[in-house]
Amino acid sequence: MAALKYAGLEDTDSEEELPPGWEERTTKDGWVYYANHLEEKTQWEHPKSGKRKRVAGDLPYGWEQETDENGQVYFVDHINKRTTYLDPRLAFTVEDNPVKPTTRQKYDGNSTAMEILQGRDLSGKVVIITGANSGIGFETAKSLALHGACVILACRSLARGEDAVQRILGEWHKAKVEAMTLDLASLQSVQHFAEEFKSKNLPLHILICNAAVFGVPWSLTEDGLESTFQVNHLGHFYLVQLLEDVLRQSSPARVVVVSSESHRFTEINDSSGKLDFSLLSPSKKEYWAMLAYNRSKLCNILFSNELNRRLSAHGVTSNAVHPGNMIYSSIHRSWWVYTLLFTLARPFTKSMALFVYLTEFTEEGGSSAAPVGLKGLLLYGCCRYLTYI
Ligand SMILES: NC(=O)c1ccc[n+]([C@@H]2O[C@H](COP(=O)([O-])OP(=O)(O)OC[C@H]3O[C@@H](n4cnc5c(N)ncnc54)[C@H](OP(=O)(O)O)[C@@H]3O)[C@@H](O)[C@H]2O)c1
Repeated sequence: MAALKYAGLEDTDSEEELPPGWEERTTKDGWVYYANHLEEKTQWEHPKSGKRKRVAGDLPYGWEQETDENGQVYFVDHINKRTTYLDPRLAFTVEDNPVKPTTRQKYDGNSTAMEILQGRDLSGKVVIITGANSGIGFETAKSLALHGACVILACRSLARGEDAVQRILGEWHKAKVEAMTLDLASLQSVQHFAEEFKSKNLPLHILICNAAVFGVPWSLTEDGLESTFQVNHLGHFYLVQLLEDVLRQSSPARVVVVSSESHRFTEINDSSGKLDFSLLSPSKKEYWAMLAYNRSKLCNILFSNELNRRLSAHGVTSNAVHPGNMIYSSIHRSWWVYTLLFTLARPFTKSMALFVYLTEFTEEGGSSAAPVGLKGLLLYGCCRYLTYI
């Protein structure tokens, strides 16, 4: 409803309660009329305000309009398997003669993923979301799947991915969801994932680079890079390179990189203003978990901007997003202090239900020597991207 207010489409229901005995109904064409059960009469005008109204937009996804034997319109909600004479869009009515909204429709921090996607039919769209077994990634996967998209949950643990798939199927048994293994801490795993996805011959309309680690102790990946940097940024960078051709062929397509406001509190340049590679994948001595996270999130944004600059002419856009501060997902799990802070902040931050966001070079061979060469190439390509900005 907040969304409609922003759109200039007033939500009049809360202010205009019906007197007792009156009921609000809609015609097949979406016009609102009022039935008075005591006097057995109907009229177009609201009994109190005298305004005429109509419903705005399409029915929510999964709903259908039918007419009963008396010619009265009723609604079937196929997802929750129920029938009602109340038009679900009655919460979103506009005046018969509204002033055309002058601004684009916007949403605020209280808009839910389901509100944003309301009325959207995403059938035929194929989406990959990394780290979709928990937190924001899971909510995004669920919301997109419940609106008809075919969603691939790219997770480092297939068991956790399958569990997430079952949770979505539990909400709608016809949802098109599948879990696939993707460990961003392994370039080989990223490569396998891309190959397996390509072997399905599916298009790819939305790639959401969401997975991340936060505040983890220093460790090196099997590719010899600091984990936060590789998981949060480089793994995604590589994934996008490998799937770029599919994205282009599926245009219009988009990449969404989930970043964070915390990117503001860091630097990746040295004193002369040049990219300092040692800051990206620091040694144990120079590692500070929070800073490593911030840097990886800065890389996310720089990468997304440059990707958009390079690919938008080919019908593939890229956007980096900040999902909100200190949302109580699993991100704080690496240290009890973070868990405590996130718990304290929880009453004041967004809840998980509010989500959706709703954004060259070739790799050689797959031999055992490849990871080293590949890593070098990737880092070179990644730096080229980051220094373009
Ligand atoms: N929560 C916030 O307040 C907040 C604020 C700003 C930005 N963000 C961003 O929002 C995004 C989602 O975070 P979240 O809050 O939803 O956290 P989350 O619940 O911890 O989700 C992170 C996901 O990333 C996955 N992941 C971790 N390492 C991986 C790897 N090596 N390969 C593949 N997947 C891996 C995790 O899988 P496992 O379950 O297997 O570990 C998990 O599914 C992140 O990019 C984060 O930076 C969050």
